[in-house]
Amino acid sequence: MSAQLSSIAAKTASESVGARTQDRLQSIRDDARLATPCLAIDGALVERNIERMATYCASRGLALRPHTKTHKSQRIAQLQLDAGAAGLTVAKPGEARVMAPLGAPILIAYPPITPASLRTIGELTERGDVLVAADSAEAIERLAAAAPGRGRRVGVLVDADVGMHRTGVSDPEQCVALAKLIAASDKLRFDGLFCYPGHIWVKPAEQEAPLQAAGEFVQACISMLTSNGMAPGIISAGSTPTAFNTHLMQGVTEIRPGTYVFNDMNTVRGGFCELQDCAVRMIATVVSTAVPGQVVIDAGAKALAADRCIPAPTSGHGFVVEYPEAVVTALSEEHGQIDVSRCEWTPRVGERVSVIPNHVCPTINLTDSAWWFDSEGSLQELTIDARGMVR
Ligand SMILES: Cc1ncc(COP(=O)(O)O)c(C=O)c1O
Repeated sequence: MSAQLSSIAAKTASESVGARTQDRLQSIRDDARLATPCLAIDGALVERNIERMATYCASRGLALRPHTKTHKSQRIAQLQLDAGAAGLTVAKPGEARVMAPLGAPILIAYPPITPASLRTIGELTERGDVLVAADSAEAIERLAAAAPGRGRRVGVLVDADVGMHRTGVSDPEQCVALAKLIAASDKLRFDGLFCYPGHIWVKPAEQEAPLQAAGEFVQACISMLTSNGMAPGIISAGSTPTAFNTHLMQGVTEIRPGTYVFNDMNTVRGGFCELQDCAVRMIATVVSTAVPGQVVIDAGAKALAADRCIPAPTSGHGFVVEYPEAVVTALSEEHGQIDVSRCEWTPRVGERVSVIPNHVCPTINLTDSAWWFDSEGSLQELTIDARGMVR
C-alpha cells in the first residue's frame, strides 16, 4: 500500500471522519429502504461544501458560476444559487434546458456547433440570459445564424487555451479576431473571456507558477482586446483543483468549479480536500466471496464509472470506506472485484460496503436517482434531472 493510501486509511479509521458523521453514514448504508447498488448523498456535507466555496469567492470578490455537470440536479443547483452563485454552468444545451426553470443566467461551456445545440440555445435565449463559450469563427457564425435576435442577444465568451490544450485559441490576436466577429453581429454580445485550467493537478501549495502562467496569457488577451476597444467584462475560469487558489491567477472575475460540491477520490488523492469532504458514496452489497482473497460487489461499471484515479492511477476504482486496505481492482458491467488480501477482516456475503467513486461526475450520470439524507436522518429520493443529457 502506498504511503498516501496508508495515510488515507489511517484517517478513515480515526476521528477524522467524525464519530457522529460516521455513525450516520453507517446507518444510512444499512437502511433497508435502500436497494443496492445505489448512491447515497450526505446533504449536510453538500451544503458545507457549497458554503465553503461561496465564502472563498465572496472573500476574493469573485463571482461563482458552478458547473452543474457534477450533480445534474435542480435541487442542488438551487442550493448553490441560494448560497450566492451568480449563475450556473452546464456542458451541453440539454443540461441548460433542465436548469433553465431556475431562472439563473446559464453559461454553456461547450462549443456551439451542432444544429440541435444551436436550436436549443436559440430557444433558451428567448426565455433567459444565455452565455456560450466559443473558439472558432464557424461556431460564432452558426450561433449568429441561430440566435433569435429581436433584442435577445446570446452572450459569447471567447475561449482561450491557458495550457490544457483541449479547446481555446492560443494567441491573443485570434482572440481579438473572434471578439470582433461577435461584436459585428446584432444577435450576439461579446461578454469576455473563458478559460479552463484543467491541466493543473499539482498540489495547492505548488499551483502558484502554473496559475501565474495561465494568468499571463489571459492578461495578454485582455490587453490586446482593450487596445482594440473591446475590454472584456467577464474572465471566466476555475476548476475544483485550483478553485481556492484562483486569486493567484490575475484577471479572473468568476470561477466554474463543479466537483467541489461532492468531491471524490480524484480530489482527495490530489490533495484538494479531505476524505471527510466526500459527500457521495456508492452503497453496494457483497454478492460473492468464492475466490480467495477477493470479494465481489453488485456495483460494476454500470453503477460506478470506470475512471481510474487521475493522481493515483493504480489505486483501484474508488475507495472502500469500511475496508481501507481493500482495492477495487476490476469492474465488469455488473461486478466489482475487490482485492481484500491485505485486510485484517474481510466482508461477508450479504454485507454492505460504501465506495467513494474516483470520479463522481460520470458516476452520477449513471443513475436516475440517488438517496439524499440530511443531518436529522431524513432520507429522500433525489432525481438526477439532467442525467443522460449529452446533447
Ligand atoms: C470547461 C469546464 N469548466 C469547469 C469545469 C469544472 O471543473 P471541476 O470538475 O474540476 O470542478 C469543467 C470540468 O470538466 C470544465 O470542463
